[in-house]
Amino acid sequence: MKKKIWDFWAKNYSKLWVQKYSLGPTRTKVKHIISSYLSIEESTAMSLLDVGCGTGELLYELQGVKGLQRSGLDFSKGMIEESQKKNKDIKHYVLDVQELDKIERKFNIITCTHSLPYYPSQSDIIKKIHSLLEKDGLAVFAFASGNNWFDKIILLFVKLTTGPASYPSDKDFKKLIDGLFQIEKREVIKIKPYMPTIAVYSLKKV
Ligand SMILES: C[S@@+](CC[C@H](N)C(=O)[O-])C[C@H]1O[C@@H](n2cnc3c(N)ncnc32)[C@H](O)[C@@H]1O
Repeated sequence: MKKKIWDFWAKNYSKLWVQKYSLGPTRTKVKHIISSYLSIEESTAMSLLDVGCGTGELLYELQGVKGLQRSGLDFSKGMIEESQKKNKDIKHYVLDVQELDKIERKFNIITCTHSLPYYPSQSDIIKKIHSLLEKDGLAVFAFASGNNWFDKIILLFVKLTTGPASYPSDKDFKKLIDGLFQIEKREVIKIKPYMPTIAVYSLKKV
């Protein structure tokens, strides 16, 4: 059921109205964070893995970033097929995040946007992402944050379209990353008052 719902959305995902007020603005923020990171890092070749990449919009928008070797992972074949259409030359992993340890390499940058709330064991997955990240790497997590009652109520409606989800509050997220990551920056996106708050975390390994 979980995978099927994303296969169902795959064909029309890039046309959904949430692209305008939620997913698109998140990508803009994440691209900005990545550009800043790349501008201060001295290496000319950087690898990036987008976990839960969906139809690959972020990967597509990052094309042309000099020296950035992009790759994406998602468990939905439908989503990956759409991503492959627009990101022809990049590596895609059709994998459940629970199997992240099957990837036998590390990355300089790992992004995970609007995907964490759907993972069965968020704590285990964050540990796996931590292991996949290079020592001085950057991890960026963005998700609708169940921080207050308003957000929680709105997110009940979102769940009707996505299936089971658990949206971490700031407090929950801090617990999830405790001992693994330190927060470099926490930013918030709220384009419309009726949209849930989106938290964007830039993290470094402890
Ligand atoms: C709301 S979409 C977000 C897609 C994209 N990151 C974005 O920001 O537009 C959530 C994505 O997470 C993927 N996903 C959910 N649970 C997953 C899991 N256990 N393993 C891998 N991918 C998963 C879904 O297939 C879907 O593509």
